[in-house]
Amino acid sequence: MKCIGVLTSGGDAPGMNAAIRAVVRAGLHAGVKVIGVRRGYHGLIHGEFQVMTPRSVADIIHRGGTILRTARSEEFRTPAGQQRALDNIRQQQLEGLVVIGGGGSMRGGLALSDLGVPIIGVPATIDNDLVGTDVSIGFDTATNTVVDAINKIRDTATSHERIYVIEVMGRDSGFIALHAGLAGGAESILVPEIAFDLDDVCRRIVDGYQRGKAHSIIVVAEGAYGSPGAAKNGESAGFRVGKFIREKTGFETRITVLGHLQRGGTPTVQDRILASRLAAYAVELLLEGEDRLLTGMVNNQLRATPLDDILGQTKELDRSMYELANVLASV
Ligand code: F6P
Repeated sequence: MKCIGVLTSGGDAPGMNAAIRAVVRAGLHAGVKVIGVRRGYHGLIHGEFQVMTPRSVADIIHRGGTILRTARSEEFRTPAGQQRALDNIRQQQLEGLVVIGGGGSMRGGLALSDLGVPIIGVPATIDNDLVGTDVSIGFDTATNTVVDAINKIRDTATSHERIYVIEVMGRDSGFIALHAGLAGGAESILVPEIAFDLDDVCRRIVDGYQRGKAHSIIVVAEGAYGSPGAAKNGESAGFRVGKFIREKTGFETRITVLGHLQRGGTPTVQDRILASRLAAYAVELLLEGEDRLLTGMVNNQLRATPLDDILGQTKELDRSMYELANVLASV
């Protein structure tokens, strides 16, 4: 191979820049030209290319977001859009492409691979919902951001002796809620994967109060009621839960929706190392002639898994962590 491309697609994730840097520098180190595609699949269709040099990825390892920008492209879902992307790939003489993103981005990669373009995926999504890796780029930073917010909310929760409902991201999955909930000492954690009973949540709050707990923190995944039905009558999952608790218990309740702040910020050490390793490995695989693979870290070992095997699969939450969080909040 003489020339490869790299793009970021879908929701951004802290550590994407570290991944771009690793693709570019590993590629140049191996003697191939690296072309950056701006705005993900949208840029592939509309010819937004830039030649990457070692200096074009200088000073980005510590920055959140993605210097290549990202997009969710509806046009790429159409055969006409994919054909235009393919024409541009041929015109740029890209012999393979590293796709950095989540599940939707990997599906896009498979469509290009079907048209004959070798694709290696690098998992980057704060949701951490991709099978084939224990953890995705961005998840560690996002959960640390949430825990930082919980710590701050805990201060005011203690002062005011209120119930605080904190809604976190996770359209279809509860990884952020579970990990941040356990690390943040939440009284209850509500996730899409595990059925919950709000009466039970209220009972736990009242029991806690009787045991001398002055406040409670409830962490709710935005998709707790199922996706895309997280919002009902314009009410997000967190507001729905908060309203129920207020009406049922009579306790003063406040709701915080953390939203997109979870997607930004400087990536943690773990995310920078993960991104560097997974992205450099992706280049290695591409140059070895591989195709249709996702790089991942399983039990702290680099692993490549066929994209065809992982898409459509659901990554399981560790239920023992969920039970542990409940036990630790129950006394
Ligand atoms: O997939 C990552 C994610 O942050 C989800 O947790 C969230 O539901 C979604 O993206 C939000 O997407 P957008 O940035 O398009 O609003």
